[in-house]
Amino acid sequence: MSNPALLVLYGSQTGTAQDTAQRLARQAQRRRLRVRVMPLDDYNVANLITESLVVFVCSTTGQGDPPDNMKNFWRFLFKKSLPAGSLSQLDCAILGLGDSSYPKFNFVAKKLHKRLLQLGACVLLPVGLADDQHDLGLPPTYTFHFLDDMQEKEEVQLRIPMDQTVPSQSHPFPARMVFNRRVTEPSHFQDVRHIELDVTGSNIEFAAGDVVMMRPCNAPEDVQQFCQLLKLDPETRFTLSPTDNTAVPARLPQPCTVRHLVESYLDIAAVPRRSFFELLSTFATNELEQEKLAEFSSAAGQDELHNYCNRPRRTMLEVLADFPHTTAELKVDYLLDLFPEIQPRSFSIASSLRAHPNRIQVLVAVVCYKTKLYKPRKGLCSSWLASLDPAQGDVYVPLWVKKGSLKFPSDKETPVIMVGPGTGVAPFRSVLQERTAEGRTANVLFFGCRSKSKDFYFRTEWEEMMEAGFLTLFTAFSRDQEAKVYVQHRVRDNGELLWDLIANKNACFYIAGNAKQMPASVCDALKEAFQQAGGVSAEEAEQMLATMEKTGRFQSETWS
Ligand code: 2AM
Repeated sequence: MSNPALLVLYGSQTGTAQDTAQRLARQAQRRRLRVRVMPLDDYNVANLITESLVVFVCSTTGQGDPPDNMKNFWRFLFKKSLPAGSLSQLDCAILGLGDSSYPKFNFVAKKLHKRLLQLGACVLLPVGLADDQHDLGLPPTYTFHFLDDMQEKEEVQLRIPMDQTVPSQSHPFPARMVFNRRVTEPSHFQDVRHIELDVTGSNIEFAAGDVVMMRPCNAPEDVQQFCQLLKLDPETRFTLSPTDNTAVPARLPQPCTVRHLVESYLDIAAVPRRSFFELLSTFATNELEQEKLAEFSSAAGQDELHNYCNRPRRTMLEVLADFPHTTAELKVDYLLDLFPEIQPRSFSIASSLRAHPNRIQVLVAVVCYKTKLYKPRKGLCSSWLASLDPAQGDVYVPLWVKKGSLKFPSDKETPVIMVGPGTGVAPFRSVLQERTAEGRTANVLFFGCRSKSKDFYFRTEWEEMMEAGFLTLFTAFSRDQEAKVYVQHRVRDNGELLWDLIANKNACFYIAGNAKQMPASVCDALKEAFQQAGGVSAEEAEQMLATMEKTGRFQSETWS
């Protein structure tokens, strides 16, 4: 199926509507839509009856008049001879640009809206009425109503569901953290955590290869800094009401504290986009800040913005701190327009219910790296998880489970070969626990890490499985010797075994991990192994792998 085609038509007198239309078209292109954009009078209006999706961007000039480059369109559209249902195939949206100091504010957009409805078009969204008078193009999505402090405070608490519902994004289960252990040596460059969560009573079930979803919170010091910059008291409570027919976010309790909103909803640690600067600039009164924000919002300032934000991974909170005057002027009502919602993160489940009933275990590499900024960049979810300490009192992680992409064979005989360097080993630990519990012995694991003594996690578990006859393990310690040794080298060295398992015993082959080049290198090594041990040609090896992939006998899951 081809991508949907969007037509953006504009009527612009001074160029603002044109600019807006073109920006809208670029956004749509990035979302893979086929897009045309043109002034209304360059468009053959008779063709409108063949269009399926159109956005109209029109300004209003003078006393409610349409701009010059849509005058012909306007005359045509209001012809009495046009039959009532002639645009019934059309889905459309209208954005008006106007000035509320004139009595006929956005008259063109409103009149266009009425006429399109008359002609049978389906108008998908409320008409956008942008206003030159207010600095802001659009009203906020929500209005905040602060409650007076005398009312009794209610703690925001996660409720443990007592019914039979299975936890989901809208109803996560608050799982108690049982342990949170660092599994790499203290001297190792990377902090990797083995975390266990108690899901007793949750109705959660999962199989090897499934993933657990968790929504992280912002760090308390970030919440505090944010509230200081905006001059907000974190303990204040508010309720939200939508300014149009948008629903209030279900996961924000009503009333809600400012702390809860900032801590668990607003993604203040995200790297901002241009639209953030556009909205922020509308609050600027300080001349220097205004100038800079206007530059970042403009088409010409995009390289500058990239260097300021994207390259060093500067966070929204850090940007607010760089523009303190503007931040102090920010209207609270716009918070949910300015900041995206914190998104859930997925982790491969690293345990099996057979080995650890009522538990979910994960293996988490704590993301922390340097850019040119002074403070190291931290992964929101991994840093949050690492900061939780069950020894200091009960901590709960809201979670739910999703089917993963890795599927393991259900029949008893099929051997599995797994390549999982680093935290890529997580889903394989789950399936190994499952298969060990079921008495299945044909399991081969290739594990890679930097050093036998520093980040060889789960070593004793693997050794026990090997001793009990459930595992054949190959390790690649990349930095324990001069030359790098990677899992793909081990795959290449063990061609005879792999060929026998795959060609004669119908084995399935899996790759998981986050090293970018690793999966491709492992595939190359596997094909080489086929050639050397099986005596097949390069084409035949390629074909074998392709067939394995088609039939689900070769699967990979990678993440960054
Ligand atoms: P390195 O960091 O020494 O390069 C787990 O992260 C292991 O995967 C580490 O030993 C790491 O080695 C290794 N690794 C990094 N890049 C890789 C690649 N392209 N292919 C295979 N393994 C890789």
